[in-house]
Amino acid sequence: MRVVTVVILAGALAAAGAVMAGGIAAPPAAPAPAPQPAPLKTAASFQSIKDPAARSIALFTEAGKVIQSPRCMNCHPVQRAPTQGDDMHPHNPPMVAGDSGHGPAGMPCFSCHQQANVPTWGDSIKSIPGDPKWGLAPAEMAWQGKSLGAICNQIKTPATNGGRSLTELHHHMADDHLVGWAWNPGAGRKPAPGTQAQFGELIQAWIDTGAKCPKA
Ligand code: HEC
Ligand code: HEC
Repeated sequence: MRVVTVVILAGALAAAGAVMAGGIAAPPAAPAPAPQPAPLKTAASFQSIKDPAARSIALFTEAGKVIQSPRCMNCHPVQRAPTQGDDMHPHNPPMVAGDSGHGPAGMPCFSCHQQANVPTWGDSIKSIPGDPKWGLAPAEMAWQGKSLGAICNQIKTPATNGGRSLTELHHHMADDHLVGWAWNPGAGRKPAPGTQAQFGELIQAWIDTGAKCPKA
């Protein structure tokens, strides 16, 4: 049964891609209200916390609303296989990172995920997410099921974060297009809280206050 479902899904996706490439837009979507992002506090609103360490922890805790949102977590699993939806269920069809993070040979992520989100005609799946760099996050960025304190320590420590500096991390979170997908996730998906700019400011303010972590 599984195999049959996979073949049908892959066929439907290929057909959708072909139609989109032909320049024929999807019919106007039914006027269902788009899911709205949850609010995110600004970095400036934490100024009232005078102790820098306490402010640093509060800033990261706020940023954690983004980091631990399903839009980020679905690509940052520990089991080397992506998950889907707000309930983070296993990817359907079953999918693994492969050696490159871009899927196994013969079924790369790009056989379904295009350069940008592609609307579908389906009811259950309203769009297929896409980005030019679509792939699974590396093992050193595996976060699902970990506490926010554990994630914080993992990402700020070069020994556990793949040798990245805090500047590189900030740049990635504030400016990266793939990370930005989380705020533009395609029809039928709730965006990550706030905006990418707000998130970038929270991370910068966290770094400026000593990059302290909540208790693991
Ligand atoms: C056979 C087609 C196919 C392949 C190959 C594929 N995907 Fe998907 N993927 C989909 C479809 C369709 C969806 C949308 C499902 C939905 O929204 O319920 C999706 C959704 C996702 C989501 C969920 C986004 C969210 O927040 O809900 C992630 C993450 C994801 N894929 C990652 C990957 C990665 C990483 C790869 C390669 C390692 C990959 N996919 C390969 C078809 C595929
Ligand atoms: C489609 C899958 C996908 C989604 C969605 C995603 N990431 Fe990633 N993430 C990756 C990949 C792939 C890498 C490795 C990128 C690289 O090395 O250039 C990565 C790397 C990272 C890193 C390490 C920094 C670095 O320099 O590589 C951070 C931090 C990160 N992601 C944060 C986030 C946050 C925050 C979100 C949500 C707002 C998010 N990611 C959403 C796939 C994803």
